[in-house]
Amino acid sequence: MTVEFADRVKRLPPYLFAEIEKVIKEKKAQRVDLISLSIGDPDLPPPPFIIASFKEEVANLKNHNYSFSQGEPDFRQAVADWYKKRFHVDLSQEEVIALIGSKEGIANIARAFVNAGDRVLVPDPSYPVYTNGSTMLNDGIPVPLPLLQENGFKPDLEAVNQKKIKMMFLNYPNNPTSATVDKKFLRQAVEFARENNIILCYDNAYSEISFDGYKAPSILEVDGAIDVAVEFHSCSKTFNMTGDRIAFAVGNKQLISGLTKVKSQIDSGPPVYIQKVAAKALESYKSDEPPDFLKKTNQTYAERRDVLVDSLRSMGFKCDKPKATFYVWLNYKSDSMKFATKLLSVGVAVTPGVGFGEHGENYVRFALTQPKERIAEACKRISALFECADTQ
Ligand SMILES: Cc1ncc(COP(=O)(O)O)c(C=O)c1O
Repeated sequence: MTVEFADRVKRLPPYLFAEIEKVIKEKKAQRVDLISLSIGDPDLPPPPFIIASFKEEVANLKNHNYSFSQGEPDFRQAVADWYKKRFHVDLSQEEVIALIGSKEGIANIARAFVNAGDRVLVPDPSYPVYTNGSTMLNDGIPVPLPLLQENGFKPDLEAVNQKKIKMMFLNYPNNPTSATVDKKFLRQAVEFARENNIILCYDNAYSEISFDGYKAPSILEVDGAIDVAVEFHSCSKTFNMTGDRIAFAVGNKQLISGLTKVKSQIDSGPPVYIQKVAAKALESYKSDEPPDFLKKTNQTYAERRDVLVDSLRSMGFKCDKPKATFYVWLNYKSDSMKFATKLLSVGVAVTPGVGFGEHGENYVRFALTQPKERIAEACKRISALFECADTQ
């Protein structure tokens, strides 16, 4: 038999993080003491109350049947309650859907609304799934929205040719640049989407990972957003549950129903027991302030960020301290692949910026997903490499 992949699959580039994982595995097999600051997978465990809840919910024999395509009513209510507490936004259960990770929802939303040849605005650089898993796998045409440092890594929406644009992705706090936005920008984005009849997919996966008093807004806090927007959230980063695959999308009822329609033909929702655990995790919020364990998590990331950024600065690099996400985006001003390869030679793995899009070239992304002692050791190794480098 001759096996031929579908054209849309043939067009896909290799999945960046799978490639990086391969190199990391090879290095580990060679017994290299590798410090991996490349993939955004927290090294911290979920808090004990979440593990206890898992044990209890898995042991409940009633929790092993199919779940509803849109998610369990209790879970959707917990999401709506969390939104009210965290963002002061009212949502009904109809405006909420459970996802098997937000990556899944981001990929499937285009399946519900993008026709072949429709154009989709995708930030560049960005999380690769907007371009590949979502737009390209649904025969849409990705249109890059450059995120430039001089604009605070925000797109220039006035410069966009709006013709035949069906959908647009935005993500703040941003991966990979770690940029944040205020409500003024969100209002502009909503206005742009409303004027041009564009579905606005707002990825808020990092809303809870923030420092120095910064609190990330929801796009649904903006008047009129509910007419055009769907917002994605995840328990992955907030509760250190990346492997548990539980997330949710909220927003415009029709957009949520489109996503439900697609998912009901493809999967049967996240396991009931995981939705019950995630509901408990969300209920740990008592107000718009993060619960104590999350404050501690963010404190840990802030300390790691300070170790990394202070060291990079002492090496002569210019580097901002991010207010959110667990990434540091370094402008190396030269070939990002070469820089990443050079760091790999001393056992430090980072992600070359070009993997996030053309405008990521000359940058590398550090993930703060190692203890600060390991980050300090990585900095020592980098410093030895660049002892005499004139980096600016
Ligand atoms: C910006 C962004 N969105 C979404 C995701 C997907 O997260 P998950 O599928 O674990 O919810 C990630 C994961 O790294 C991400 O960085």
